[in-house]
Amino acid sequence: MKYVIGNQKNYLDRMGVIDFIEKYKGFNTNCKVIVAPSSIFFGLFEKTTFKLCGQNVSYDSNNPYTGEINASQLKSMGVNYCIVGHSERRKTFNESNEVINLKISELLKQSIIPILCIGEDRIEKENDLTEEVLYGEIINSLNNINFKDSEIIIAYEPVWAISDGIHPSTIPSNDEIELVALYIKKLVKDKFNLTAIVLYGGSVNPKNIDMLNQVQSIDGYLIGGASKKADEFLQIIEKCV
Ligand code: PGA
Repeated sequence: MKYVIGNQKNYLDRMGVIDFIEKYKGFNTNCKVIVAPSSIFFGLFEKTTFKLCGQNVSYDSNNPYTGEINASQLKSMGVNYCIVGHSERRKTFNESNEVINLKISELLKQSIIPILCIGEDRIEKENDLTEEVLYGEIINSLNNINFKDSEIIIAYEPVWAISDGIHPSTIPSNDEIELVALYIKKLVKDKFNLTAIVLYGGSVNPKNIDMLNQVQSIDGYLIGGASKKADEFLQIIEKCV
């Protein structure tokens, strides 16, 4: 059963979210469909079948920080998953692996499953540094964390493959994704004795989903641009089993 996670970023306004929910009504699937709307819209999902995901969380719930959202606030809105370390946050908001590590701890205190995003940028790829980058991101983000019974989801999102929300980028070949997913699973097992659920993210859309579905080692997808339109998102879900 594949995970299909929609990262709606800051794409939709209230009417856009309502329209998305309406179009999804009555749709049945065996996939684990999870949606990460802007947090101000969590309430709109109250009577839906979607599982809810945060896009971000505060690294410290013990002090007042204007504009931040704590893990306990997410939990109180029925959120059971949360994205951490998305490349847009790493790059634009200077999020370090150390901050991401604190965020994962905060999530686990509330039994929220972290979805850790990792991935190399284009220059790192061209210099053959993919494994080195992923190693650093995984080891430093998961360092000293006690997962107890929690799952860990890791989304491999090569930064160069993420779309601008309108135009898909080029994406890695199936063989490349396969090898990277196996590398991530082995690393997380060897270093932390955890079985990671590994997703691919970056320009997943209705046109490339058939091809991506042939990659054996991934457990699903983190979908940005194609998750803001219900019809595209539904086409992807229909093809995932
Ligand atoms: P994309 O975004 O599907 O638009 O490339 C994926 C992501 O940023 O999570």
